[in-house]
Amino acid sequence: MTDTVISDPSMDDSALGRARVTDNAELAAYYEKLESFGTGALWTVANEIEPWYPQPKSIPMLWRYEDMRPLVVESASLVKGSDAGRRVVYLANEGRRDVAAAVGLLYSGIQIMNPGESMTAHRHSASALRFVMEGSGAWTIVNGDRLEVGPNDFAITPGGTWHEHGNSADDNFVIWQDGLDIPLINALDAGFYEVHPDLYQVPGKVVNTSILTHGSGVLKPAKRSWNKAYSPLLGYPWEQTREAVVNLSKVSEGTEHDGVIMEYVNPVTGGSVMPTMGAHMQMLAPGFTSKSHRHTGSVVYHVAEGSGHSIINGKRFDWKEHDIFVVPSWAWHEHHNDNQDKPAFLFSFNDFPMINSLALHVEEEFDSNGGHQDIG
Ligand SMILES: [Fe+2]
Ligand SMILES: [Fe+2]
Repeated sequence: MTDTVISDPSMDDSALGRARVTDNAELAAYYEKLESFGTGALWTVANEIEPWYPQPKSIPMLWRYEDMRPLVVESASLVKGSDAGRRVVYLANEGRRDVAAAVGLLYSGIQIMNPGESMTAHRHSASALRFVMEGSGAWTIVNGDRLEVGPNDFAITPGGTWHEHGNSADDNFVIWQDGLDIPLINALDAGFYEVHPDLYQVPGKVVNTSILTHGSGVLKPAKRSWNKAYSPLLGYPWEQTREAVVNLSKVSEGTEHDGVIMEYVNPVTGGSVMPTMGAHMQMLAPGFTSKSHRHTGSVVYHVAEGSGHSIINGKRFDWKEHDIFVVPSWAWHEHHNDNQDKPAFLFSFNDFPMINSLALHVEEEFDSNGGHQDIG
């Protein structure tokens, strides 16, 4: 647990090598002088801005779908989609309300569209992804490519692409989870937003063009040129995803920390779907109990199927279908499928592509107590 790190004598702020100046009246006067010139003494803030190990402001949290759904449905009659832009209830981590993050620098929300409703087109610097929770008739147009998606399908809207969404069903809501890197883009002061000059795009004649072109998983078009930083495949159907993970489970037990886990990839590079965010689908076999580990990078989980619980920094979170929970960077976590007969499937998205491209990945196994945390 984190306590073992805090009590590590090598991480003592009074140790030689850390800032350990004792303040006095003379120094206080000096600090005031520095402040008046727009400066400061590093040793007064050094230990805080350079902690021994990551100090996320985010806390582990779980949002139950049985709590969220009525609130989301209420919004469908309270505000018009055309006024809200996007009718979304966002997930506010208690420690990150200042930047509207679900965890770390990742934003997430639950969006609802009424039958027959459509939203206007826009684009922004932030990249977005969707994980469909319920309803038939969901569609999205990304740079002119109309994509039709259903429950547990995964779709991406990379930064800078024009996009708009709608629900073509007559009698059901569409509810999906959004995931965006908005807090990151804002932290970098790099965000632009634009409303489409015609308000709506004119889609191409063929629906799901990107899936028909790039979605086979085993073959690639002989003539293909793609040099953008994101995947040319915009939609990842659930049936294909589930089958791939189940097939892998027939030949592999997977990893001891995640069970059988696969990454949604850019089929051209084999890398993450977008430069700032990656996504996985993992299967926890019936009764599977993972061992704890922790690593840099923040993760938002969505229960695609099944039920179980996770222990995050010593706290137990019970989950079932469409519950969403978050694991902050460097938090110990382990997952348990509590059902002895059925597998559980967890969708997740993360900031790993950034962590990895900046060479900041650090991982540690929980090696005591058989790899399992005590519940505090
Ligand atoms: Fe958007
Ligand atoms: Fe993990």
